Amino acid sequence: MEKAVVDQKKLAAEAIAAKERAYVPYSRFRVGAALLAESGRVYRGCNIENAAYTPTNCAERTAFFKAVSEGEKKFLAIAITGDADDYLYPCGVCRQVMAEFCDPDTFQIILARDGSRQQVFTLRELLPGAFTAEELKKGQR
Ligand code: THU
Repeated sequence: MEKAVVDQKKLAAEAIAAKERAYVPYSRFRVGAALLAESGRVYRGCNIENAAYTPTNCAERTAFFKAVSEGEKKFLAIAITGDADDYLYPCGVCRQVMAEFCDPDTFQIILARDGSRQQVFTLRELLPGAFTAEELKKGQR
């Protein structure tokens, strides 16, 4: 199967649309994400908060867990946008989830400030020295 092509602007627009579904009664800070799988399908995610606070799920992980639960395991890019007048970087936990499924040198993390301004990083740039299954293998005896 041919790999899908990354359209950064289109993915940014999907993330902006995904933000509308954020459930944020506590922080009032909406985040949206759009994850492009190799299959070409796009999975949207929003942050989902909880009265007990710690069960809160970030937009990025919502998108990943939706996709993986539908059978996807390979991804090309994610666009992220938030309720800030600036670029929103993914939190450390979400970067670690990306490291589980994504190639550090080719996976694109697209920070979408609005529909027309984006900044793009590879996963390795945002999470150097990631802990992966390779590290676990080194510990096996
Ligand atoms: N949040 C995300 O959804 N993604 C991030 O990368 C950073 C933080 C959410 C979690 C919480 O609902 C709100 O933003 C404030 O932390």
